[in-house]
Amino acid sequence: MNDPKDPLLMDHEADGIRELDNNLPRWWVWLFYLTILFAVAYTLYYHVFMMGNLQAAEYKLEMDAGDKIKSVALQKFESGLASMQPLKDEVVLAQGLQTFKTLCAPCHREDAGGLVGPNLTDDYWIHGPTFADNLKVIWNGVPDKGMVSWKGVLQPMDIHAVASYIHTLRGTKPPNPKPPENLAPAPTGPSEFE
Ligand code: HEC
Repeated sequence: MNDPKDPLLMDHEADGIRELDNNLPRWWVWLFYLTILFAVAYTLYYHVFMMGNLQAAEYKLEMDAGDKIKSVALQKFESGLASMQPLKDEVVLAQGLQTFKTLCAPCHREDAGGLVGPNLTDDYWIHGPTFADNLKVIWNGVPDKGMVSWKGVLQPMDIHAVASYIHTLRGTKPPNPKPPENLAPAPTGPSEFE
C-alpha cells in the first residue's frame, strides 16, 4: 500500500526510514534482460553445444602457435650458424659481456683465461678456431665434457652476442691462463716399446 499523498512512498518504515517505490529506468531494465540473454547464449555456445574453445583449449592453441614460431627461429639460426660473422656493434658486445660475466665466467673465468672450461683467448681450440666453431659449441654444448648447451636457454641473439664478445678476447693474454688443450702431439721418434 502506498501513501495517498505521495504514490511513490510506501507505508512501511524502519527507524524513520521509508521506501520510495521508484520504477527502474527502462534502459537499466533492458540492460538487465540483455545480461540474462547473454548468459543463456554463452552457456549454450560454450557448454551445451561446445562450439567455442574454453580457456584451457585457447591457451594450448596459443602456446602451440608460440612454440612453432620459436622452433622456426631456432632452426633458422641453426642453419645459418656456419656463415655467421662476429658482430661489432658496441651495444651488442656490451650485452655479450654481461652474459659472459653471469653465465660463462664461473667456468671460463672473468677474463676468459680458463678454469673448468678452457682458455678462450689463446690460439688453441678443442673444437676448432673459427667463429662458427665457437658458435656451434655454445649452441650444442659438449655435454660429456661439462660445457653447457645454451640452445633454448639463451635467445639466439644472445648466443650470437656472447660469441662475438669472446671473439674480441682473442689474443688478450690474461695472466695465469689455463694451459692450452689440444696441442698437436709432438713428433716422437720410434719408442722402445714399439
Ligand atoms: C659448467 C661450466 C661451463 C660453463 C657455464 C660454460 N662453459 Fe664453455 N666450456 C666448458 C668446458 C668444460 C669446455 C670444454 C669442452 C671440451 O673439452 O670439449 C667448454 C668449451 C667452450 C668453448 C669451446 C672452446 C674450444 O677450445 O673449442 C667455447 C667457445 C665456450 N665453452 C664458450 C662458452 C660460453 C660463451 C659460455 C657462456 C654462455 C660457456 N662456455 C659456459 C665449460 C663451461
